[in-house]
Amino acid sequence: MDISLAPLEGITGAVFRRLHHTYFPGVDKYYTPFLSPTADRRFTPREQREFFPEHNEGIPVIPQILTKDPHDFLWAANELHHMGYEEIDLNLGCPSGTVTAKGKGAGMLSDLEKLDGFLDTIFSSAPCKISVKTRLGMDSPEEFDDILNIYARYPISELIVHPRIRKDFYRHPVRLDAFQAAYETYAGALTYNGSIVTPDDYEACIARFPNIQGVMIGQGLISDPFLAGKIKGQSIPDKDILKEFHDRSFDSYAQQFQSRNNAATRMKEVWRYLIKSFDHSDAYGKKLMRCRSAEEYLSITSSIFRELDLLEVSRGGW
Ligand SMILES: Cc1cc2nc3c(=O)[nH]c(=O)nc-3n(C[C@H](O)[C@H](O)[C@H](O)COP(=O)(O)O)c2cc1C
Repeated sequence: MDISLAPLEGITGAVFRRLHHTYFPGVDKYYTPFLSPTADRRFTPREQREFFPEHNEGIPVIPQILTKDPHDFLWAANELHHMGYEEIDLNLGCPSGTVTAKGKGAGMLSDLEKLDGFLDTIFSSAPCKISVKTRLGMDSPEEFDDILNIYARYPISELIVHPRIRKDFYRHPVRLDAFQAAYETYAGALTYNGSIVTPDDYEACIARFPNIQGVMIGQGLISDPFLAGKIKGQSIPDKDILKEFHDRSFDSYAQQFQSRNNAATRMKEVWRYLIKSFDHSDAYGKKLMRCRSAEEYLSITSSIFRELDLLEVSRGGW
C-alpha cells in the first residue's frame, strides 16, 4: 500500500520535502502544492525553486497543477515531463473562494460538461501519467455519482478522493459512506485522503477499504513526521531526530528568504500541527503562535524540545 504526502500549500514545498525525505522513512510519493500555469508560459523564480529537478533530487515527487485551461495544463505538464517527472496530478479539490470563483479546483466540479471537455483535451495528448485529486462535489455528496461517471471515461492513473464537498472545507467530518460508494463502483486505482492522524486511523481505513491503491496523508504527517515510518514499522520516534529536522528546516528557510523572521513565520505553519505531538503543549503552542521575532521563536521551540515529551501518537484536533 502506497503512502503519499498530501500537498499543503505554504508547508510542503521543496525544503520540507527534501528534509522530510532525509530524516523520515515511509513516504512513497511526495505531491507538490499546486502550480498555477499562466498564459505567459514561464516558470517564476519561486516555481523554479519548487519544481526544477535539482531541488528534488532523489525524491519521488509528483507535481500538481491547478488550472481550468487544458492548454495551460498541457504546457506545464509537457515542461514538467521534460524535466523528468513521470506523473502529474490535477487539482480538482481546492475549496478556496478565490480559486473556485474562477472555476478552478473544486470549482471545476460544478460544470460537468466543461470538466468532461477539459479531461478529453488533456488526455488526448497527455505526455505522461495523469492522476486526479478530487472532492465529492461542490454542494452535495450526491454530485459524486455523475462526477465519477466522467472520471471513469479517462485513463486516470490514480484517483485520489478527499471525501468532503467544497462547502466542508477541512472542518466537516470526512464522508466515509460516500467514499465507500466510490470504492464499490470505481474500477480504476483509488487512493483515500483525509483525517488520517495515527497508525490506528490508517489501519481502520485499510480494514474498511482493503483494495485501495494508497493512502494520502497531509496534516497528520506534518503533526507526526514519523507517521508513515510508524505505519510501516520502519521508524522509532526520536526527539533528537525531530529537532535536527526542525533546526535544518529553520536554517534552510532563513537562507532562502534571507530573513530569520520570515523563516520563523513559515515554521509556525508547521508548528500548528507539530505541537500536537508533544505532551502538555497547549500553552507553548499559544505562545509560539503569538511570537513576533526569530529570537522569541527559537527560544520557545528550544523549550519545547527540552521540556516536553514526544507523544506516542499525535493528539490531532487542529
Ligand atoms: C494549509 C493547507 C494547504 C493545502 N494545499 C493544497 C494544495 O496545494 N493542493 C491540494 O490538492 N490540496 C491541498 N490541501 C488539501 C490537502 O492536500 C488534503 O487533501 C487535506 O488536508 C485533507 O487531508 P489530511 O486530513 O490528511 O490533511 C491543503 C490543505 C491545507 C490544510
